[in-house]
Amino acid sequence: MNASGSSAAPKGTSLPLAVLSETFIRKAKDKTLHVGIVGLGYVGLPLAEAFVRRDLRVTGFDIDMAKVDMLDAGQSYIKHISDERIGSMNASGKFGSTTDFARLKEVDAILICVPTPLGAHREPDLSYVVATTKNIAKYIGPGQLVILESTTYPGTSEEVLQPILESGGLKAGVDFAIAYSPEREDPGNPNFETSTIPKVVGASSTPERDMACALYGVIVPTVPVSNLRTAEAVKLTENIFRAVNIALVNELKVVYGAMDIDVWEVIEAAKTKPFGYMAFYPGPGLGGHCIPIDPFYLTWKARAYGLNTRFIELAGEINSNMPGHVVDRLGEAMNEQLGMAMKGAKVLIVGLAYKKNVDDMRESPALELIDKLRMRGMDVEYYDPYIPVAPSIREHPEVEGMRSVEWTEEALGKFDVALIATDHDNVDYMPLLKAVDLVVDTRNAIKDRAEKVVRA
Ligand SMILES: NC(=O)c1ccc[n+]([C@@H]2O[C@H](COP(=O)([O-])OP(=O)(O)OC[C@H]3O[C@@H](n4cnc5c(N)ncnc54)[C@H](O)[C@@H]3O)[C@@H](O)[C@H]2O)c1
Repeated sequence: MNASGSSAAPKGTSLPLAVLSETFIRKAKDKTLHVGIVGLGYVGLPLAEAFVRRDLRVTGFDIDMAKVDMLDAGQSYIKHISDERIGSMNASGKFGSTTDFARLKEVDAILICVPTPLGAHREPDLSYVVATTKNIAKYIGPGQLVILESTTYPGTSEEVLQPILESGGLKAGVDFAIAYSPEREDPGNPNFETSTIPKVVGASSTPERDMACALYGVIVPTVPVSNLRTAEAVKLTENIFRAVNIALVNELKVVYGAMDIDVWEVIEAAKTKPFGYMAFYPGPGLGGHCIPIDPFYLTWKARAYGLNTRFIELAGEINSNMPGHVVDRLGEAMNEQLGMAMKGAKVLIVGLAYKKNVDDMRESPALELIDKLRMRGMDVEYYDPYIPVAPSIREHPEVEGMRSVEWTEEALGKFDVALIATDHDNVDYMPLLKAVDLVVDTRNAIKDRAEKVVRA
């Protein structure tokens, strides 16, 4: 825990924010700003690294002592972030992490990167954001900048964060600053990382926006927008766009499948059009903690305006029907090609993570597939090179403790059918094709049109 020392203006300073912001911006230019990042997960940790790489001092805050201990020991808990990268952050002398939130007083900027899941009734669950903001409110001082990065509905920063932060008597836009800047991290994507993706920044006043842009400007190009709710809406728009387009190709997959047209071949050809088309790919259903969840933040908020979000609801319906469609296709293929019933047969799920090349199985459609296949009486096992043992997942307790099978022809030979749910790049499908008589492929992972491969 080596990033210490007080740098924010002391409590009681009565300088207006316009003046305090000049000091903040100068410190950003001098690289003497001290950044606090709350929530050291998939978003917070790479963000901390991006600032450290540009020589800013960063203190990470998390409630999970195990994460702080691992970071102190130079160990990563995220597959695509290596131990070496944590080691270099520590070696720079610019990074430290802690569970002691009183140390928020030391930093100039506080970036909130905590989870924003859905509740039991698909309503926004802001409990992590509220808990974090209450902690920050205890220590906030004049001249500090608080930025929410977590994905949320338009209005959250003004309606939820601001009143909590002002509860101690200081005023936003006068004594301290608030901004919203959505995180656009795409874990496992080799083409982009935190430091190469522009940051959209919204705030209620010019000094607040200038402060946030100065901070992020140290690591990335910034895209200022006119207010907090616009920035909040940008993030939802990006993820709704993905959810709706994925639903569209999933629908086309079903329709073209019935016409004996390969939707993947259609997409490959369609994307040669240099304008007006963007390729999205079908799959076994939506996964991850963003695309299946974030659109419903807008649905919930729209209700307060008496409005429905029909595109979002329809996309959700189509995408959530996909696991059922895949299981039906698997049953039909077993019947036609193997003359075998599903009940009592052995099926291997290939890929448990929600998308390729990551070890994250939150909201993974593979979990839904396991449930559905078991309900049809199948004996289900899985293979995932990144998930040797399935961890506990709240909605799917039955998968906890399942172990990835060995990827050898001999071990694979006991399965009647394999179902490719996630197409990790490092999987060689040859042993599978040799060992198993039927492979149902939901990702177009196996490019050659072998008889025994059925797309679903
Ligand atoms: N993971 C992504 O690819 C991604 C991309 C864009 C946006 N987002 C959004 O970013 C936000 C964070 O997502 P994530 O994937 O990094 O989550 P995560 O679960 O990986 O990490 C969240 C971290 O916050 C910590 N935490 C929880 N409550 C806390 C509290 N009260 N105080 C301090 N720390 C606390 C947890 O211990 C954890 O380390 C979410 O709103 C998510 O929707 C995520």
